[in-house]
Amino acid sequence: MGSQIAHELESAKARIKELVSLVEHHRFLYYVLDRPEISDGEFDKLFHELEDLEKRFPELKDPNSPTEKVGAAPSTEFKEVRHRTAMLSLANAMDEGDLDRWGDRLKRSVSDGDDKEVALGYVCELKIDGLSIGLTYEEGRFVQGATRGNGTVGEDVTLNLKTIADLPAKLKPLEIDAEGLPTFCAGAGAAVEQRLPALLEVRGEVYMSVSSFTELNRGLTEANDSPFANPRNAASGSLRQKNPRITAKRNLSLWTYLAYLEDPVIQQPRSQFECMKMLEVMGFPVEPNRFLADSILEIKDYCRRWSEERHGLNYQTDGVVIKLNDRRLWEELGATSHSPRWAVAFKYPPEEANTILEDILFEVGRTGAVTPVAVLTPVLLAGTTVKRASLHNADQIERLGLRLGDTVVVRKAGEIIPEILSVIVEKRKEESKPFVYPSACPECDTTLIRIEEEVVLRCPNTYGCRAQKERRLKHFVGKEAMNIEGVGEVLVEQLVKADLVDNAADFYKLSFEQLVSLERMGEKSARNVLKEIEGSKERPLAALLFGLGIRHVGATVAELIASHFGSIDRVMEASAEQISEIEGVGTVIAEAVVDYFSQPQNRELIETLKELGLKMEDASPSSADAGEAPAQVFAGKTFVVTGTLSNMDRKQAETAIKMRGGKATSSVSKKTDYLVVGESPGSKLAKAEQLGVTVVNESQFLAMLES
Ligand code: IVH
Repeated sequence: MGSQIAHELESAKARIKELVSLVEHHRFLYYVLDRPEISDGEFDKLFHELEDLEKRFPELKDPNSPTEKVGAAPSTEFKEVRHRTAMLSLANAMDEGDLDRWGDRLKRSVSDGDDKEVALGYVCELKIDGLSIGLTYEEGRFVQGATRGNGTVGEDVTLNLKTIADLPAKLKPLEIDAEGLPTFCAGAGAAVEQRLPALLEVRGEVYMSVSSFTELNRGLTEANDSPFANPRNAASGSLRQKNPRITAKRNLSLWTYLAYLEDPVIQQPRSQFECMKMLEVMGFPVEPNRFLADSILEIKDYCRRWSEERHGLNYQTDGVVIKLNDRRLWEELGATSHSPRWAVAFKYPPEEANTILEDILFEVGRTGAVTPVAVLTPVLLAGTTVKRASLHNADQIERLGLRLGDTVVVRKAGEIIPEILSVIVEKRKEESKPFVYPSACPECDTTLIRIEEEVVLRCPNTYGCRAQKERRLKHFVGKEAMNIEGVGEVLVEQLVKADLVDNAADFYKLSFEQLVSLERMGEKSARNVLKEIEGSKERPLAALLFGLGIRHVGATVAELIASHFGSIDRVMEASAEQISEIEGVGTVIAEAVVDYFSQPQNRELIETLKELGLKMEDASPSSADAGEAPAQVFAGKTFVVTGTLSNMDRKQAETAIKMRGGKATSSVSKKTDYLVVGESPGSKLAKAEQLGVTVVNESQFLAMLES
């Protein structure tokens, strides 16, 4: 009889345990993921069965039983978790010298004072800038996840981790040989069985992709909430939520990089490289750019290569983690209280820094576009001092919620010009006020206009605004235009100020006396300048067309138009339809050309230039030469252009890419190096982000064209 009661009690205990986990699991699916897998009726049945058993066996009832939290959404309690294996930090290598010293030290320890050269293998992994996490799997099921905490004890964030799509809830079994070694390992025999490890501890990094971060901050700003300073903070804030429903909405991601396996049959692979393979085979996300290096030299190459290439990824990395590949040496070498001796973190110099937004200046371009530039308290960033950052347009000022005096996070990544990533709202001074965009031109005080469908503001005072005039003249003498060497930006400003030059034709009317009367202008320089100006009369038609500064007409388009029409007269007579017949020239450009030549001032300018002896036609239209071809800076790079650009159309952008040696294709794939996005980019952007393709906006693209 007694043994029957004992048996009944045993099976009730097991069933209660099972029901508790089932109820918790389904409650999580229902409340947090909004993805129930069973009907309400089925759930109620499980719940009542649990209640009944708890009533019959009150001594077996868990005080934390889900029956105590009727109808409550699961909530994270941040219970303390003691890590089975301490979660250590890493020693840092700040430069290549540190890497050499680390390598030497390793070799000395491993060779045991022996003089023999030891050959060691190393795994290089990108150092993900997120927050480290420890995951526990029992019999292939995710049972617990915890933050690092102080390395020994962390916080239980299991429920929040369960919302991360990358995190496998159930693992795929391993195929092992007769010795218990996974079959993909070096020296393994044929598969004899499939098995899940009894216990698996995994270490990894939870992070937020750059695109999810941008998206999240946009939403927060729109809702008048404070945006996060960077993706790392956003990931940390999102993972440490009491309500996992919020975490679930944050789109967190995961990379895993360490495995500690305990099982009576399965053997832990002997190398770190194979352990990463094992993680992958079992269904974990593992960063794909890892590399097996044979020497410190190869490690340095990898670090150098990724110091640039990492900017093309959709997640932030702040260095490279180098681990000894042979795990048997890990135990031999051991760890200090802070970090293991078998690994080191090579750190890239920080590319983000906090500084103060001192002012927002407005620059008036040659077409009247008024663009904001942030003036920053100078700050050292990735080896250079940054004083200014581009702000692209009014939308960005609004999106970031910028105010003068704000502490801002500036970022400089790769070749991309510095930009303001976010505002640290907590540091905002109480008296600060929202930034008001100017309504009048900062140069000539004319009321600014916003042309429909364009984000930029424009000063409509085309001929009266001194800033526009100066910009136009500087553009006219520029390298790709009339290429008048000796007439630089400063001289143009001097000439305008002295009222000697008002339009492009005035350059050709300058006298020796007028030039030498200018400050810092010697006789020799004056003579040189005159010679240069005279020489520019021979520049090809395309150079002149470009130099006129017609809206949307870049060097490439100017060349297309020049070689099609052959003379300025024919261009001036052409209709928009005729111009847009040229392959690579769209209607927007064609209309801009017609519009330019319909204005009396411009026709007059052309007439004057003609009288002054400028060459207005090409000998043979097909052999037109617009000066030197641009440098092949995009050689080997593949671009996709999507969305509406404001300074050019897609065809123009593609021609500009091709002229610089790049390839322009229409669909985004793994082979794409850059996606250039204009307004309303559509699905290509999402695809690029998913594939980790570098995304550049129009101003960044323009900067690349100019580089
Ligand atoms: S190994 C005991 N591998 O960097 C070895 N860590 O600065 C511990 N991290 O706490 C970690 N990417 O949060 C390792 N591929 C990687 C990593 C990585 C990022 C983080 C991790 C660690 C910190 C040390």
